[in-house]
Amino acid sequence: MNKKTVRDIDLKEKKVLVRCDFNVPYDENRKITDNRRIVAALPTIKYLLENDCKVILCSHLGRPKGEVKPEFSMDIVAAELTRLLGQEVRLAKDVVGPDAVAMAENLKSGEVMLLENVRFEPGEEKNDEELSKKFASLAEVFVNDAFGTAHRAHSSTTGVASFLPAVSGFLIEKELNFLGTALENPERPFMAILGGRKVSDKIGVIEALLEKVDVLMIGGAMAYTFFKSMGYNVGNSVCELDKLDLAKELMEKAKAKGVKFMLPVDTKVGKEFDPNTESKTVPFTEIPDGWEGFDIGEQTIRLYAEELKSAKTVVWNGPVGLFEFDQFAVGTNSIAKALADIDAVKIIGGGDSAAAVEKAGLAEKFTHISTGGGASLEFLEGKKLPGIEALQDK
Ligand code: 3PG
Repeated sequence: MNKKTVRDIDLKEKKVLVRCDFNVPYDENRKITDNRRIVAALPTIKYLLENDCKVILCSHLGRPKGEVKPEFSMDIVAAELTRLLGQEVRLAKDVVGPDAVAMAENLKSGEVMLLENVRFEPGEEKNDEELSKKFASLAEVFVNDAFGTAHRAHSSTTGVASFLPAVSGFLIEKELNFLGTALENPERPFMAILGGRKVSDKIGVIEALLEKVDVLMIGGAMAYTFFKSMGYNVGNSVCELDKLDLAKELMEKAKAKGVKFMLPVDTKVGKEFDPNTESKTVPFTEIPDGWEGFDIGEQTIRLYAEELKSAKTVVWNGPVGLFEFDQFAVGTNSIAKALADIDAVKIIGGGDSAAAVEKAGLAEKFTHISTGGGASLEFLEGKKLPGIEALQDK
């Protein structure tokens, strides 16, 4: 990575503003259901504490859209940080208002505070300069460790970096090392598994990966658009009729590049979008009218698992079926198990596939599970991430 990190700058006893991605899922009782993003931020926070810094943390949580909404308060994150760090993390009542300013002013070395949800400020997502300056005025150094939000050019991710010395934390460094090495210097065969709903969401990443991989396996709802483009009936399955030509083009590109482009051979279809709907497995080329495809079938699982056995590097982004419904989670869980069993560099590109691997209890079998969903996808597409671009070069 060519950006400075916390190691490259004198931080001793400094007041440091750290942008994290604490955008964690929580249930209707406001109980955090997956704390991985908070845990992933700890190495940087602990390093700053070891250097006697005064640590001011900030993040967004959900999409409150510039309004103060108590259900999006960072209080649940402050409590979880307090538990994980074993020391009190006080929550300011506002983002850059009088309470945050006073709390930051009185912060002592070795203390940690958290600002309220940065998206309570209407200027945050507009990358408003005045707000960026207010963030900057709280501290002497800015550390960005929010990999999951690095694809957003907001006040607390990029704007503030113009007004303070700005470096990356350990999480961003780690993410870039794993994702970057996999893409630039993969041990071959290099395979990618792409799932998800729409071809249109994944065009960029498919095109970018066609330049790099030896094998590309397609799963998820976007497979139905590829089959439709070949003239097959897909019943009621999700299908982007305006993307049929594009689907054909992508398959032709794969052929021209010598990339093995694999589509499912069978699919588990259901009658309705319901966890308990009647279901059956059919060949992908024979989806009956009135049925909707929700998962890859057993034959596809065997085919993909067999192919993966020879992989030396694998990147996986997007579940291959509707894994939220148990009966259609078999494909995604089986791919997770097949990957767990092989000896290769295995990288999960965040989001739903990361959640699926966690849910299956297989996380420790993977080389790296990214904390970024959208951010890792944009990175895999070869796009520059504004939150990282804004940091100081080495
Ligand atoms: C994420 O969950 O992908 C990040 O926290 C970014 O959130 P956003 O999509 O609401 O900007």
